[in-house]
Amino acid sequence: MSYELDPLPYDYDALEPHISEQVLTWHHDTHHQGYVNGWNSAEETLEQNREDGDFSSSPGAIRNVTHNGSGHILHDLFWNSMSPEGGDEPSGELRDRIEEDFGSYDAWKGEFEAAAGNAGGWALLVYDSFSNQLRNIVVDKHDQGALWGSHPILALDVWEHSYYHDYGPARGDFVSNFFEVVDWDEPSARYEQAVELFE
Ligand SMILES: [Fe+2]
Repeated sequence: MSYELDPLPYDYDALEPHISEQVLTWHHDTHHQGYVNGWNSAEETLEQNREDGDFSSSPGAIRNVTHNGSGHILHDLFWNSMSPEGGDEPSGELRDRIEEDFGSYDAWKGEFEAAAGNAGGWALLVYDSFSNQLRNIVVDKHDQGALWGSHPILALDVWEHSYYHDYGPARGDFVSNFFEVVDWDEPSARYEQAVELFE
């Protein structure tokens, strides 16, 4: 099988002024496309090595699957966690669970923003299926800092390609503006899937 890049679920300029058309274009068409290509290429290497019975380049290709695959999966979630109609707080079951597991929405948000300020890749809200609770995770690159068994619910990309052109070094302003476009429909659906699967 090979992986494909889905179009953005909105126009490239739909998240302005919080994220510019230029950044979304580069980010989706160049960076995200690169992870899709990298994943496909690594899979081809693995397949060829299995046919040849020569596994010398397989460990590197396996690492490329993890890196590029995680990049593809998280970017898909990131795009689908924003919309021009976004900017609300979570509601319903996910809101209740955030309050239960973090004490309050503000406590969750403060912790998530701190994670986003520190990460070398992503801040994630995940459902941890071992402990059966929501957690914030600090991820470097696309995969370093992952907790096994965690199901991503909300993803915020803080790689420099995500904000530097719009905000320069003021990453905190980008993180604040993410909350002006965050759309909780997809995270809520993913939370409900996780509960169905794991509880
Ligand atoms: Fe990115």
